[in-house]
Amino acid sequence: MPVANTYRLLILPGDGIGPEVMGEVRKVAEWFRDKRRAPIEIRERPFGMASWERYASLMPDETWAEITAADAVLFGAVGSLDQQAKISAADRKKGSLLTMRKALDVFANVRPIKANAALLPASSLKPEVVDGVDLVFVRELTAGVYFGEPRGVEKLADGGERGVNTHVYTSAEVERVARFAFELARQRKAEGKPGHVHSVDKANVMEAGAMWRRVVQRVHDAEFPDVALHHMLADNCAMQLIRWPRQFDVIVTDNLFGDLLSDCGAMITGSLGMLPSASLSAKDAHGRRRALYEPIHGSAPDIAGKSLANPLAAILSFAMCLRETLGQADDAATLERAVDKVLASGARTADLATKGAPTLSTTGMGDAVVTALASV
Ligand code: NAI
Ligand code: MG
Repeated sequence: MPVANTYRLLILPGDGIGPEVMGEVRKVAEWFRDKRRAPIEIRERPFGMASWERYASLMPDETWAEITAADAVLFGAVGSLDQQAKISAADRKKGSLLTMRKALDVFANVRPIKANAALLPASSLKPEVVDGVDLVFVRELTAGVYFGEPRGVEKLADGGERGVNTHVYTSAEVERVARFAFELARQRKAEGKPGHVHSVDKANVMEAGAMWRRVVQRVHDAEFPDVALHHMLADNCAMQLIRWPRQFDVIVTDNLFGDLLSDCGAMITGSLGMLPSASLSAKDAHGRRRALYEPIHGSAPDIAGKSLANPLAAILSFAMCLRETLGQADDAATLERAVDKVLASGARTADLATKGAPTLSTTGMGDAVVTALASV
């Protein structure tokens, strides 16, 4: 395979359970490279505390060069108390996940939430509520309150403090994420899914929320009149996700609401350890998007280092990479079928297991997926 046709994938394991789950992603990626001739080159760089300990920097120039040279980044998780204690706020910011997302301009974070029939008992919701759910969040990822200025904490003359974060969106930022969501809904309709959009905001109390709603409606009316659009307030959406999640198909929302509501949606699948995501930029002149594939969970310090983490969110994020970056929908479907087969066999990591049932370790689950790949 000539080098020009090889996709360069960069693994950044990060902190906590990041290295554990990404070790299993590597096994799966190597299987596709070796057994399916997937045209990929797999590289890896230390990230998070591992990078700090080795380079005294969370983002040395070499790491940034690797990130920008990669066709896709496969990201584990970051976050540890060590970082808070040992690294200054300025150094943390330089190497933070948020800074990386912003610099790559991966504004559309796609988070599919699909109920798996074998996992209905793992959900805290009733099976009849969860069964058949197939929705996708499009979370705006590079603006909003996580990035807005002014921000910070100041001391007040009376000895108290004043903490400030600012929720900011430009109409251009809303337009591009709305367009992404409408296009996705059209594509899903072509695949036989409902193909409609819920835009979620707090237009009732936030001026920027009212603007969000107006801009989404304008993009809809001008470019996507064929796609059904509903507006919903974010607090109601939190309730509706639990009450009747099958009403949703594509949900587009801002950075903060998307973060919260998708974690809430994780319970539809039974565990945060099941939810993959793709963070995507606009298309370049060749029609390709910069991409960061990341499970939605964090570094889970409570279970780190014990081989208890569920690697399926990270493995399913790699399936999204096969589909989106490599354009290999068949390979992606093969991987998703392998995961379904493993779950249908009753194999469970601790987060999904019913009380007292036997469980697989992180590596045991990764191995089970690789074994299943050969027979699906
Ligand atoms: P978390 O997502 O790390 O964990 C929440 C709960 O879910 C924990 O009980 C954890 O054990 C469980 N869990 C998460 N992933 C799991 C998996 N794969 N398998 C089994 N159980 C799993 O969120 P938390 O505890 O609020 O944050 C921990 C650290 O992670 C913080 O430093 C936070 O800033 C960071 N974080 C990083 C993210 C990222 O790198 N994308 C996203 C969210 C949080
Ligand atoms: Mg979150």
